Amino acid sequence: MQRILEPEIMADPEQSLAYANADFSISNQSFVDHVLSNGGHRLQHVVDIGCGPCDVMVRLADACPEICITAIDGSAAMVELARRAVLAADHQSRIRLMQGYVPGLALPEHSFDAVLSKDLLHHLPDPMVLWTETQRLGRQGASVHVMDLIRPDTQQHARDIVEKVAPDAHAILCEDFYNSLCAAFTIDEINGQLEKAGLQLQVRQISDRHMLIFGTLP
Ligand SMILES: C[S@@+](CC[C@H](N)C(=O)[O-])C[C@H]1O[C@@H](n2cnc3c(N)ncnc32)[C@H](O)[C@@H]1O
Repeated sequence: MQRILEPEIMADPEQSLAYANADFSISNQSFVDHVLSNGGHRLQHVVDIGCGPCDVMVRLADACPEICITAIDGSAAMVELARRAVLAADHQSRIRLMQGYVPGLALPEHSFDAVLSKDLLHHLPDPMVLWTETQRLGRQGASVHVMDLIRPDTQQHARDIVEKVAPDAHAILCEDFYNSLCAAFTIDEINGQLEKAGLQLQVRQISDRHMLIFGTLP
């Protein structure tokens, strides 16, 4: 099926809260485990683009006592939920939250050891903005870890995934999940984006619905 765009910024407070209250612990922890198993413990300055309610970065900060994270999101509602999560975990000295929009983040060029992003890419009307921002923010040799959904072949397949993965979830969340699957990219499309950006990163399918894109900047 063709990609169907979904709203980019999760600006609605009710939608943001439903997302923050959902249990994404398995995929969030698997992303963090992937970062850790690829040198994550050595990272010092990291940016997370599209941090949402920040559960992922709280997990990373729990695992890495030395890490300093800049976590950004375009949604004021999400940043507020993130602020509460960071305070509850007592990570306010190591996770700096910013409301910001990609492209055009007010962050210095080439200042991060790693550029991270989970489940943001499918929100972007133009996915190239993430790859351009990644090259702008990462220093030479920085690691890149992006995790995102894979678009299913048909809308029915997307419905089937939602039913299988989240049979009892809140209606807002189910609709969001379905819309996100329909807005996601195929692995071939991601490879095309990376080639266009001149980025040599690996793309690996890691579950029936997720892929990881990872490697280092030249
Ligand atoms: C599906 S959530 C993922 C949140 C988090 N990374 C996670 O995995 O739990 C995607 C987030 O990206 C944010 N977002 C979408 N487009 C954005 C953009 N252009 N700039 C900044 N944030 C954006 C949305 O507001 C939303 O909070």
